[in-house]
Parts: sequence; C-alpha cells; structure tokens
Amino acid sequence: MRTQVGIIGAGPSGLLLSQLLHLQGIDTVVLERHSRDYVLGRIRAGVLEHGFADLMREAQVSDRMDAEGEIHDGFDIAYDGKRHRVDLKGLTGGNTVIVYGQTELTRDLYEGRDRMGGVVVHNAEDVTPHAFDGNGSPYLTYRLGEAVHRVDCDFIVGCDGFHGVSRTSIPKDVLKEFETVYPIGWLGVLSRTPPVSKELIYVNHERGFALCSLRSQVLSRYYVQCTLDDNVEDWSDDRFWAELIARLPADAAATIVTGPSIEKSIAPLRSYVAEPMRYRNLFLAGDAAHIVPPTGARGLNSAASDIYYLYHAMVDHYRKGDATGLDRYSERALARVWKGQRFSWWMTRLLHRFPDANDFDRRLQKTELDYLFSSKAAMRSLAENYVGLPF
Ligand code: FAD
Ligand code: DHB
Repeated sequence: MRTQVGIIGAGPSGLLLSQLLHLQGIDTVVLERHSRDYVLGRIRAGVLEHGFADLMREAQVSDRMDAEGEIHDGFDIAYDGKRHRVDLKGLTGGNTVIVYGQTELTRDLYEGRDRMGGVVVHNAEDVTPHAFDGNGSPYLTYRLGEAVHRVDCDFIVGCDGFHGVSRTSIPKDVLKEFETVYPIGWLGVLSRTPPVSKELIYVNHERGFALCSLRSQVLSRYYVQCTLDDNVEDWSDDRFWAELIARLPADAAATIVTGPSIEKSIAPLRSYVAEPMRYRNLFLAGDAAHIVPPTGARGLNSAASDIYYLYHAMVDHYRKGDATGLDRYSERALARVWKGQRFSWWMTRLLHRFPDANDFDRRLQKTELDYLFSSKAAMRSLAENYVGLPF
C-alpha cells in the first residue's frame, strides 16, 4: 500500500487526523492494534472544549454531538459540606463545555471514515515504523495473521496512546521525558441511572476525592479516589455506592439514584510529557506524547489541540509547499500541552487527599480552596483553563 500519511492508532487522535486530512484531499492509512469493538468499548473522557467541538464540525462528524451533547455552563466544587459553583460562562465571557462521551465521539469518527471509504486496518499486530530518520522514505509494517504487510508513506504519525510503539521508536538520546506519578487512582463506574446533578460535582472530602459526571440524563459516570493497591474485584457495586455517598454533600447523598454498574475500571494518575513531538518524519500526537491526570478533563482536549496544529501543518505542506507548520509543530503543540499539564496538576493537587501529605500540605490545600472560593480572579483563572485556552 502507498499513502501520504501513515497513522498508528485509531483512538480519537488518529481518527480525527485521518478524517480532517481526507477532507483536504490528503490520503491516510490508519493501523490499529485492537478490533473496532474493543476501541469502542473503552469508557474514557466526557468533557469537550469548544475547540474540540469545532474540529469535529470541520471534520463533518458533529451532527450527533450537536444534537445529543449537553452544553454545560458551569460545575460545582464541594468542600467542607458546601457546594461552590464555578460559573464557566459568566467567568469566561460566554464560554462553556460540551458533555459528550469519548465512546460516542469515536463512533462518530468511525462512521465518518466509513462514509468516505477511509482505510482503517484493525487487529494489526507488530506495527513498526521504519526509515523515518530522513534517510530514505518512511514506511510501516504490520502483521495480520501470518502475512506481513507494508505501507509506504511520506510521514508517520504516532497516535497510539501512552503504551504505543511510536514514542519508543525515537532514539533515547533525542527524547526528553518529564514525569510525575501520583500515589492514588480513580475508580470509575458507569450506570444506567439518572445523574445526581445536572452539572458535574468535583468533591474534595476527607475520605478522598469523588466526581459526579454524566453521559446523558439516563447515564451517569461516577468516580472515587482509590489506592494504587485497589483491584476492581475488591469493589462490589454496593461498596462503590456506599463510598461515593459517604463523600457527597448531604443534598446529593440524599437524592442519588444507584443501580448496577455497566462498566467499572481503575485508572492510575500520571503527568507525563515527551519532548520533542517530532523526530524527522515521525510525529507524535495525543496520549502518545503526553498524559495528564484526569482531574482537569484535559487529556482528550490536549490531543485535539495537537491534531489542530498537525492538520494545519500538513495542509500547508501539501497545498502550499510550506513546511513552517511541520517544522514548528513540536514547539507549538508543546506550548499548549504544558499549560494543560499545569492546570491538571493544579486541579489534582487541589481536590485529592494524598496519603503522603503532611500537616503543612493539608493546610496549604485548605488555603488554596478558601482563596479560590473567595477570589473572582482565582475562579476566572480556573474557568479559563477548564473551558480550554485558545489553540
Ligand atoms: P488513545 O485513546 O489511547 O488511542 C490510541 C490508540 O492506539 C488505541 O486505540 C490503541 O489501541 C492504539 N494502539 C496502541 N498501541 C498500538 C500499536 N502498537 N499499534 C497499533 N495501534 C496501537 N480527557 C479529557 O479531555 N476529558 C475527560 O473528561 C477525560 N476523562 C478521562 C477519564 C478517564 C478514566 C481516562 C482513563 C482518561 C480520560 N481522559 C479525559 C483522557 C482521554 O481519554 C485520552 O487523553 C484520549 O483517549 C487520548 O486519545 P488518543 O487517541 O491520543 O489515545
Ligand atoms: C469525566 C472525566 C474527567 O476526568 C473529568 O474531569 C470530568 C468528567 C467523565 O468521564 O465524565
């Protein structure tokens, strides 16, 4: 096979880039390690910035998101038994977020690729990028059963998430890694129950963090902070609901509707950035290059900003023969990535109870929360970051 851009990974980053480039007449092939059902079975992000939504519109896959996604003007932070509203719309001069699940968004992107006859190869094993160091033409190889296949291309884009093959193919002496790991996890439950609140509630409680989120008015998504030793099997539905209720403010605890979980999983919390995001003819985008703890809802949104820069850079290259965007991709993408990192780290420190915190840390966290709730400037800074900084 011959294509212009060979993409590794059919998560939101890979599919969105493929769809956007296709609409500009640029050919792509996407290689995905898992089956389509597996990709669509992952329950992850739920909160989208408008910048992301605009990209979905540009990719002509936004009809369902625009019809079914919920616009949220704000959310609550619960602390010390009180709820404090973060008025996103008022504080940012009209900006909001869209609550629409990553699963749905990925399905929309797949349907877009299907409509246009886009090539997405599933169950591709041993995907390997070759000759991307500028000597010769890049190509990808992969295995389907016994047969090894080859895709020749101009560029390779690694959209293969944190555990993918792209980043680790870059020479060790080129890549600089920045990382911090938090000594806590998130246990998430999806249940077919009406959400306890129309808007999200982030809870800082002495028993640990909790989050009440949703996918629709009949589908709730809840999280509680857990330990790194916890296993999903240790958490029966009854135990989960009891722990969530114990952390909620009284009004929410009294009205929450519980029910059987339809998905339950544990996610570790990590901050990670790899620099640079380009090595010669290999580009990294999304979780392949950076990970945030989920608290600030930045992960998917940071992936979208990478795709925005890379998409425009590729179009400039193919349409105008202008390589500036490609040459500046890493620098531009990383400038925004680091702002998302800062915000996610800050929100994570603000809202969780850390097992290694000392009295000073605890008093500082309380002071940070008191300051936030009493300062419009601090609230505005939170709101500006949560709705997403401009691309
Ligand atoms: P991925 O979604 O990881 O996709 C990578 C793809 O590459 C996968 O399909 C994988 O199978 C494939 N792949 C991997 N290795 C290979 C290989 N060797 N060969 C071929 N294919 C390969 N973000 C937000 O913005 N808002 C939120 O509210 C939010 N909530 C979250 C909640 C949880 C519990 C979690 C875990 C994450 C959350 N995130 C959130 C983060 C968000 O889900 C990720 O940032 C997003 O999935 C990144 O998309 P991606 O396409 O870059 O990577
Ligand atoms: C969800 C996940 C998040 O990390 C977050 O900050 C908000 C919502 C969610 O899955 O709904």
